[in-house]
Amino acid sequence: MKFFVDTADIGEIREMNEAGLIDGVTTNPSLILKANRPMRDVIAEICESVDGPVSAEVTALTAEEMIREGKLLAGIASNVCIKLPLTLDGLKACKHLTDEGFETNVTLCFSATQALLAAKAGATYVSPFIGRLDDININGMELIADIRRIFDNYDFETQILAASIRTLNHVREAALIGADVATVPTSTLRALVKHPLTDKGLENFMSDWKKSGQTIA
Ligand code: E4P
Repeated sequence: MKFFVDTADIGEIREMNEAGLIDGVTTNPSLILKANRPMRDVIAEICESVDGPVSAEVTALTAEEMIREGKLLAGIASNVCIKLPLTLDGLKACKHLTDEGFETNVTLCFSATQALLAAKAGATYVSPFIGRLDDININGMELIADIRRIFDNYDFETQILAASIRTLNHVREAALIGADVATVPTSTLRALVKHPLTDKGLENFMSDWKKSGQTIA
């Protein structure tokens, strides 16, 4: 499973990239607001820092405008993936942009049938939001499993990009189900590294090594 990082914080992205942990980046208008800098600059810097796809989201609501904005965003760097909302206009824009050879990520997907439509429109990625479904007491992980089954039934090439990830278990379960990608906040990525037995084991090894009086020289 590929890992994308779900942030527009360039410092965090660079650190995670240096550790070889990430295959791409996703942003959205709320993350751009947090970055508090011009979107064009933020996306350009991120695209320079990572080799993989960087999702940049359109903000228009009509297909025509989405296509125009999408092309502007794609003009920033060759690894921009145009993020479009799962609306009829978003799907029209997806079909158009995909046919022209752009990478697309259809976002705000909350049902398996919406995902099916995104695949039919040729999306490179579809982003089902796990956490936001869990928030309203609907099992977000069941959605990932349903989409996996539907895409496999019909050999759709659209990649399932598990989004709105809130817990380590979301990552584990998405991987078990076979999501192609998980986009993860940096706090979750950091938490994935940690295990109390790793910390305890390291502490013991360090203490015994000190007692041995040796050095690796
Ligand atoms: C995905 O592309 C979205 O940016 C993101 O995963 C949304 O997550 P949230 O529900 O935590 O805002």
